[in-house]
Amino acid sequence: MNPRPSSRLSGYYQKSIEERVAILAEWADLCADEVDLLHTALTLAQADKMIENVVGRYALPLGVGANFLINGDEHLIPMVIEEPSVVAAVSFAARLARTGGGFFTGSTDPIMIAQIQLLDVPDPVAAERAIRAEEADLLAAANTSSTIARLGGGPRRLEIRHLADTAVGPMLIVHLHFDCRDAMGANAVNTAAETIAPRLETLSGGRVLLRILSNLTDQRRAWAEVLIPAASFSTHDYSGEAVVQGIVEANAFALADPYRATTHNKGIFNGIDAVLIATSNDWRAVAAGGHAYAARSGQYRALTDWRWISGIEDFSAVDSHPFSPSRLSNIQYPALYGRLEMPLSVGIVGGATRTHPLAGVALKILGVTSARQLSEIVVAVGLAQNLAAVRALVTDGIQRGHMRLHARQIAITAGAREDQVDPIATRLVHEGTIRVERARELLTQIGQP
Ligand code: MEV
Repeated sequence: MNPRPSSRLSGYYQKSIEERVAILAEWADLCADEVDLLHTALTLAQADKMIENVVGRYALPLGVGANFLINGDEHLIPMVIEEPSVVAAVSFAARLARTGGGFFTGSTDPIMIAQIQLLDVPDPVAAERAIRAEEADLLAAANTSSTIARLGGGPRRLEIRHLADTAVGPMLIVHLHFDCRDAMGANAVNTAAETIAPRLETLSGGRVLLRILSNLTDQRRAWAEVLIPAASFSTHDYSGEAVVQGIVEANAFALADPYRATTHNKGIFNGIDAVLIATSNDWRAVAAGGHAYAARSGQYRALTDWRWISGIEDFSAVDSHPFSPSRLSNIQYPALYGRLEMPLSVGIVGGATRTHPLAGVALKILGVTSARQLSEIVVAVGLAQNLAAVRALVTDGIQRGHMRLHARQIAITAGAREDQVDPIATRLVHEGTIRVERARELLTQIGQP
């Protein structure tokens, strides 16, 4: 694929929907049918094939997160979400990140874990030995997905865990590690677990109960990092250094306190879920895994790490980082360093990524060629979304931006025409009375009830 044009879209939000679509279509080289899908999306017949008891379709807005530079590549981000401000905020944060060269990302191999629960095992140590002796055969038997095998994936290894003390006595838990390549892999992994379960039962002398993947996909992680000069954060009212200091302090709060961490991480998922929904990935699975990972120390904490960086020497405290020596010496200090790492199981083949017609368009806009690449974009969006939220919280507070969008919605509810929405919203915010009755009064004053 040719390098894409810049994703820095100035004033995109002020354009009409038609203009935005035209810009996006040209940018992502969408054909007329793909553009059509943006408006028509899923047919009832397609919906009926996706789930049971279908009676209709439920539409949500699809927006575009702009300005993303990830590993030096330009990206526009399709985002499906009902909450105002999220798309604007993430685009703003991505613009800030560009001043430091954008996001840098990485990921592990896409290894999923299937769990097989064995109960009533007479001798767990002997059972472990017996299972280990047969590991190669068990892995061969677990190679049940020809599609994933064709992509170069498949079963990789067994891990055996002894849960000595549960409410119903000891259990032996076998983890099957399965490389899913470009598939999310839930079906393949569950099938593999069910296939080898009878042999594990025989080998252990116990009784198999559950055979299901774990959504704590800690072997399938992605991470994103960013380094932004403090000067980029300065505004009329705040110095860049004060904002960066505030972000570091806010992160410390979310690392120390589960009440704050929950909200902090929710902000991360605002961005992550929106991309997962746009690409028809299982956002409940990713959310479950992310929250569990946030509690891996025994306490639920922020998933992000934000640090004040005074100069190159501060990087001696960061274990490994993606910034080249020339970037480190050219960037203006002090700077803000951020990192988000979390389990991220996504697919670009199979499942709803293929049955929902818009998922294909979303993947094309993203320009991804592998599930790993998608997971890396998703985690960069999560980091950007968190940056936007925390930056707002440590400066004006979150309500100012929300109020403006809220005021626009109130103006629309009051019956404002397209050209009246912004002037009415501005008046409502200025007066501090964001109510439908007031919007109606203002409309009457300018001659439209
Ligand atoms: C709102 O959807 C998300 C935030 O609450 C996240 C946060 O507090 O960091 C703004």
